[in-house]
Amino acid sequence: MTKMKKNTIPDLVIIHANELVTMDTKLGCPRIGDAMTELGIIIDGAIAVKDNTISFVGTTSELKQIYELNKIKTIIDATNQLITPGFVDPHTHIIFDGSRENELEMKLEGKTYLEILEAGGGILKTVTATRKASKEKLVKNGMKILDKMMTFGTTTVETKSGYGLSLESEIKSLEAAKLLNLQHPIDIISTFLGAHAIPPEYAENPDDYVDLIISKMIPQIAEKKLAEFCDVFCEQGIFSIQQTRKILNAAIKHGLKPQIHIDEILDTNGAALAVELNAIQTGHLLKSNEIGLKAMAKERIIATLLPGTPFCLMLKDYAPARKMIEYGIPIALATDLNPNCWTESMQMIIVLACYLMKLKPSEALTATTINAACAIQRQDKIGSLEIGKKADINIFDIPNHQFLAYQFGGNLISKVIKNGKVVVDTKVKN
Ligand code: NIG
Ligand code: FE
Repeated sequence: MTKMKKNTIPDLVIIHANELVTMDTKLGCPRIGDAMTELGIIIDGAIAVKDNTISFVGTTSELKQIYELNKIKTIIDATNQLITPGFVDPHTHIIFDGSRENELEMKLEGKTYLEILEAGGGILKTVTATRKASKEKLVKNGMKILDKMMTFGTTTVETKSGYGLSLESEIKSLEAAKLLNLQHPIDIISTFLGAHAIPPEYAENPDDYVDLIISKMIPQIAEKKLAEFCDVFCEQGIFSIQQTRKILNAAIKHGLKPQIHIDEILDTNGAALAVELNAIQTGHLLKSNEIGLKAMAKERIIATLLPGTPFCLMLKDYAPARKMIEYGIPIALATDLNPNCWTESMQMIIVLACYLMKLKPSEALTATTINAACAIQRQDKIGSLEIGKKADINIFDIPNHQFLAYQFGGNLISKVIKNGKVVVDTKVKN
């Protein structure tokens, strides 16, 4: 039993969870290696919430010794159910307009991601639509996505700009993210991704676009406090290692924290750059070289793996997750939700991670909770169920965490509690 505050009647308690996964940070934060399988499970678990905060975590009998149940307003019986921390989705691109369902058939014909982009599709198609959209439309689109994410158990989301690619449209996108954070129960962490693609008007002089990012976009976005992180799509034919370094160093000078999309299609030595810049997290890493990976392990840089993307691109290879765990790289998982890879479901990502990257269900759950919280530097508030942390709690209608990867294709959520309030209730009867 963990400590509890005396003389406080909780607003809500959950009792009799078959398995309560605490993700206790004493077992590692972020978790690496074998610690990724240690979930801090309490059998017949119970949890109490007071004022949006967790006030007790332990067994049901311990909870009953402390509190008189008849004094508590909301009691949830989680018999035969699983309780976990709310999912944290640490890498998404939800601010966009339009869709790209037509590209599926291009991919089926064998066209690659970069070929589709060169043909004016891909990111650039979404840029055209997003530039035309009003801020209100972007908020409306984002609300719809966030609503769905929440029904699948996501309670915190990192999201990026990157479909504006002009000063005005990037600011519009980040202002939309700010409004979403105010209007939706999900907490949003914003990242500036002006370096997502070279916009068509700079096709002949991409370095001028890099200069625009450095001289105008980063200073204004930092000044307006519209983003906490800065990201770059570092890839051959997109932004080079040199350009990425220049952009992220400028970002750091303005107080934005660096992260990078690296080595998704080819190895450009992105992992080494992530180490050089002391990035908080890096995304993709399908092709990263051994030296880079080992350096990442040494510096404990979080690898955010995005298996939805190779899945949607119909690639043969996925990020070498087992090797990364063996090297001691902390792993997080994210949806990468974007118009090329559109899933709101972290449950889906857990399934892909287990079946296609050979993660164990326990490792995948660690990667979607405590390690994902570390990837956005929110481990002090979320990612585990511990006294004093924010009451972001998932109740699943399954008896244990292994079911998260075993029973797939639907939504296993029974209830989602965000900030101490029940925000999703599927009313599934036991
Ligand atoms: O993380 N790789 C770059 N950016 C996104 C895809 C964006 C898009 O295709 O619209 C990603 O996969
Ligand atoms: Fe991405």
